[in-house]
Amino acid sequence: MVIKKIIIGFAVLGIWAGLAWADVDLPTKFSNQGSIGNTRHNMTQRQASGGGPSGVSMDPYRNDYQEVCVYCHTPHGANSNVTLPLWNRTLKTTTYATYDLLGTSSLTQVVGQPGPNSLACLSCHDGQTAVDSIINMPGSGRYDPAQATTQNNTFLNTWDNSRGPDATVHLGLNPVPGQGCLACHSAGAGFVGAGATDFTVFAIGTDLRNDHPVGITYPALSGATADYKQPGRTKGSATFFDVDSDTNMGKGEVRVYDGKVECASCHDPHGVPSGGAGSTFKPAFLRVANSGSALCLTCHSK
Ligand code: HEC
Ligand code: HEC
Ligand code: HEC
Ligand code: HEC
Ligand code: HEC
Repeated sequence: MVIKKIIIGFAVLGIWAGLAWADVDLPTKFSNQGSIGNTRHNMTQRQASGGGPSGVSMDPYRNDYQEVCVYCHTPHGANSNVTLPLWNRTLKTTTYATYDLLGTSSLTQVVGQPGPNSLACLSCHDGQTAVDSIINMPGSGRYDPAQATTQNNTFLNTWDNSRGPDATVHLGLNPVPGQGCLACHSAGAGFVGAGATDFTVFAIGTDLRNDHPVGITYPALSGATADYKQPGRTKGSATFFDVDSDTNMGKGEVRVYDGKVECASCHDPHGVPSGGAGSTFKPAFLRVANSGSALCLTCHSK
């Protein structure tokens, strides 16, 4: 770990000393309003023009595809190993330590491995795969179907970061401080003067024992308990709380996928307006803001 840090450190110093590229960075767009483009899920973002600490660029550490959706979706050549909308990301086979292994005696349902609508998130948040590891890069011919299951850096290296130096290292949200994106984005780690926002809490890792269970059956659907509210509405393989009774699964409506609670039951990775168009999104990509524990009380009768 230390060795890796030093190597990355030298790489930065080398670029620092050898090249003085113009500052072409865009200002931060994290207004959390209007579109996913203005949220933390816009992976094309980096230090603001003139506002970032001088000399440290993250461009050598992830491909800047200059498109927001492409880090997750592609119109063609999507990952057909998984039931997710036009999924463009590498999904490695990973075994997670699940919440049931914690051994609480109150759990009534079986916890399985995370389902597709959790694996989607974990394809970045478990830190096993580079944030920029996708199957179909923008432009024609930049397609490698083997990327569906395997991160191939040789393929990723063919990308030209036209706004800055090309990426030679493809980092992920490794939960170990000082590694992956956390080499700069964690407190006290990495490069002196990097001054980058701390991402430690976003790096969940593969141990899900300290996270709300996912891949878990929703009890009320099997009629198992009165402690859970009934979602009430079904569409396709999803069941949801149709709060506006319009029979459509709205962004702000908590859902159960194939009978199970997954990450996207509580979170919408595109952001959900808190009070109609133009309003600031609910915090942490939540479907229901959790003030007064409203999110928890959507499912739990407590
Ligand atoms: C950080 C990853 C990520 C990015 C970036 C992203 N999406 Fe998604 N998207 C997902 C995931 C995960 C799902 C499945 C879970 C769900 O239904 O919300 C999804 C579902 C969808 C769906 C189908 C379900 C729905 O919510 O309508 C559409 C359409 C969609 N995305 C469009 C887009 C578009 C257009 C963009 C770019 C402007 C985009 N997404 C960017 C992760 C992402
Ligand atoms: C393409 C990689 C990627 C995918 C896929 C992805 N995320 Fe993220 N997410 C990130 C990164 C990177 C950050 C934090 C860094 C940043 O500031 O951009 C983040 C931040 C977040 C945050 C913190 C937001 C805030 O404003 O505090 C939440 C919550 C989150 N993600 C949830 C999810 C969920 C849930 C999913 C799946 C539905 C998901 N993410 C899918 C990369 C991803
Ligand atoms: C070489 C150090 C370095 C590495 C490695 C690095 N970053 Fe950064 N990043 C920065 C600096 C410096 C900034 C500007 C300060 C800030 O906004 O946090 C920044 C800014 C950002 C921003 C914009 C934050 C904002 O509010 O405008 C995002 C998003 C981001 N980085 C994501 C990532 C992701 C995802 C990774 C891993 C794939 C990564 N970074 C790796 C140095 C780095
Ligand atoms: C039962 C609902 C629920 C489920 C399921 C869930 N989350 Fe969350 N998540 C939350 C809430 C609520 C917060 C806000 C916590 C806070 O503000 O401290 C949150 C916060 C986060 C954050 C930001 C961390 C922070 O401290 O700000 C990330 C990243 C995240 N979730 C990712 C995920 C991923 C990945 C999954 C699936 C493995 C997942 N979540 C499943 C409810 C959920
Ligand atoms: C989408 C529905 C849903 C939401 C929203 C939700 N939960 Fe849960 N929660 C569940 C299910 C399903 C279980 C597992 C039930 C079981 O096995 O008995 C569970 C289990 C739990 C457990 C018990 C774990 C154990 O060891 O017995 C706690 C505590 C909990 N949730 C707290 C919360 C909190 C706090 C929130 C809000 C941040 C929340 N939940 C939001 C569905 C949900």
